[in-house]
Amino acid sequence: MTQPLAPVAGIDVPDRWPTRITELLGIRWPLLLGGMMWLSDARLVAAMVRAGGMGFITARSSRSDDDFRQALRQCRELSGGLPFGVNLTLSRRAAHNDAMLVRLRIALEEGVRLFETAGLPPTPLLPDIREAGAVVIHKCAHVRHAVAAQNMGVDAVTLVGMEEGGHPGSNPLPTFLNGAYALEQLHLPLALGGGIGHGRQIAAALALGADAVVMGSVFTPAMETPAHAAYKQRVVATDAHGTRAVLGSLGDTWRILDNENARKVAALEQAGARSYAEFGDLISGDRTQSLAYQAGQHEEGMLSMGPAVGFARAVEPVADIVRRLQEECVRASTRFLQMTART
Ligand SMILES: Cc1cc2nc3c(=O)[nH]c(=O)nc-3n(C[C@H](O)[C@H](O)[C@H](O)COP(=O)(O)O)c2cc1C
Repeated sequence: MTQPLAPVAGIDVPDRWPTRITELLGIRWPLLLGGMMWLSDARLVAAMVRAGGMGFITARSSRSDDDFRQALRQCRELSGGLPFGVNLTLSRRAAHNDAMLVRLRIALEEGVRLFETAGLPPTPLLPDIREAGAVVIHKCAHVRHAVAAQNMGVDAVTLVGMEEGGHPGSNPLPTFLNGAYALEQLHLPLALGGGIGHGRQIAAALALGADAVVMGSVFTPAMETPAHAAYKQRVVATDAHGTRAVLGSLGDTWRILDNENARKVAALEQAGARSYAEFGDLISGDRTQSLAYQAGQHEEGMLSMGPAVGFARAVEPVADIVRRLQEECVRASTRFLQMTART
């Protein structure tokens, strides 16, 4: 069961906001927590699902196939039987993608039927997803990639703008411009993401025509996120200007927290480094996980983060963040509806 909504004076949050994406995923609100490497574990995803939205366990975060299977079983238990999703992020490394196919098959065996794909077109994953009758939302950063995914037969598309925490691709357009252009060309359900951390932005995205929003950064300091308290305190102290994009010159833009590590990476890039090897350990995922997320050394590691982090002002349970977003969204949409009804 999703958690009941506590009544809030003056704000009537409806019990569900139906869109094509809530119908597709079987959720109450069009609020998606995109897969977050190292952070989207069973507990965080289950918290989002129980709050009435959808979350995606990042398949790449598990150290082994067995660990991944255990994470899925744990999530199933914690989400009280509600469906949850799995994020399959593909990369330019073929070995990674073979591993993602194995993890997809494990997820299907464990009964998962919702997938968020990202990184590259989901071509190698689609036959298995289709055969199982599962749902796939493909996340990309460019309208033309969204159209290609639509033609490929995915069920829905997430389009992210350059404000996205993580890998927003090389497209320089921001979320709302991307969304407005995409809506002229897409007939599939569309989720919009990147830079969204306040409910008034959700109202704007839904008014624009999106069927859902995808968020990440604003949930990074949630109580259920598997990261050290010192990291979470650093995150809630960060404002909208505390992130930066690096590695764009390698064609692999990565928006991260502007910590000491990020500044070293930026300096190397500025000095002309153009291969991953030249950045060495500074861009190592294992180092990010062990030093920053586990040990709380938040000035180390590549900490994916976008400017929506400025809206994360406390370490709170996921359900409270969702509730705040809903209230803010209803307040903003009420204002808009009253305004347009007068004319
Ligand atoms: C810490 C963190 C890790 C992320 N890791 C991944 C990932 O592994 N795969 C992926 O598809 N997206 C990843 N993302 C992107 C999110 O799924 C989501 O699209 C994004 O956070 C939305 O933009 P926002 O951060 O501005 O809210 C990550 C984002 C963050 C903040």
